[in-house]
Amino acid sequence: MDLKVEGVKVEEGPAWGKTLAVPTVKEFARTAWDFIPEKYVQEYNDRPIETVLSPDETSELPIIDFSLLVKGDEAELNKLDYACKEWGFLQLINHGVAEDVLGNMKAATASFFDLPVDEKNKYAMGDSIEGYGNLFVVSEEQKLDWADSLFFITRPEEQRNMKKWPITLPGFKDAVEEYSIGMKRVTEELLAKLSLLLGMEKNSLDKQHVVMRHSMRMIYYPQCPKPELVLGCSPHSDPGSITLLLQSDDVVGLQIKHKGGWVPVTPIPNAFVVNVADALESWSNGLYKSIEHRAVANSKIARMSIGTFIQPADEAKMGPAKSIIQDRPKMYKDDIKYIDYMRNFIGMKLTGKAHTNFLKLENEY
Ligand code: OGA
Ligand code: NI
Repeated sequence: MDLKVEGVKVEEGPAWGKTLAVPTVKEFARTAWDFIPEKYVQEYNDRPIETVLSPDETSELPIIDFSLLVKGDEAELNKLDYACKEWGFLQLINHGVAEDVLGNMKAATASFFDLPVDEKNKYAMGDSIEGYGNLFVVSEEQKLDWADSLFFITRPEEQRNMKKWPITLPGFKDAVEEYSIGMKRVTEELLAKLSLLLGMEKNSLDKQHVVMRHSMRMIYYPQCPKPELVLGCSPHSDPGSITLLLQSDDVVGLQIKHKGGWVPVTPIPNAFVVNVADALESWSNGLYKSIEHRAVANSKIARMSIGTFIQPADEAKMGPAKSIIQDRPKMYKDDIKYIDYMRNFIGMKLTGKAHTNFLKLENEY
């Protein structure tokens, strides 16, 4: 496809900004027996080993049974509400997405990252953040995360940029399509239940998106000889409404902020880790929390994660939903468009919740 139309360069993909190109990690990780390039060695205070774990480190995040939610089970709905308020994270079981659909998605991800680097680079990020590479690289000086990723939009279908999908890889496209159908069903149901829990109409959160967008980020975290020096994914919160994460069963990497410390998320095979993201936090006027999280590397084994990010349309507004009834002061501006929020997010290095200041009002409680 010709990118030039009458001399004007057409921007491909979402107009959220760009990332600087840096070498991907998987290839050199294999030869880095005990040497970590300086760029990946985190400043002392940012290293995962130096961070205090939560005092109730042993407490596990809530596990929610999707099949009970669908039935309208009151206790399960209350648990969902509690999870979104107190943890901002939960693990979702019995979601009905078939095991072979999950397995095919994981296999497709693994086979992409196993391709020779020249093949992967055919999908390299360029003018937009879709594709293969590393996101959130905004300066030559910054430290880099110990991971590689592949990012693209899956829904709505007309927004798919198939140039960034490795469709020549056998089974890849079918795996993503099948998985994406499951994501759509689970997301719709979850958002309907969350709308009701927030005292809104069943379809209110759906409408907040204007046109709901799904994007996927597959991340490969190579094994690392010195995981105590690096971060797989720097601390951040996700910008959209909710995120659904499928991850390797056999290795712990994700950690979430809870009560001032970092709690590791132990994978439950076939479960999704679901989290509240920034847009939902703002629509709920802070009732539901978009929690900071990060991923650490492992010295023995590589890890993969497959995140589905549910996001509002560019023109959708952040800030407390009109239909939410609360007697609390407004905590967030209500005139910020999602595209401007995303541009601000993509233009920064991941640094915890710093990007959310863009949206916050002074009211704190
Ligand atoms: C993300 C993310 C965590 C993980 O992609 O936004 O937080 O465990 N990933 O890979
Ligand atoms: Ni995240």
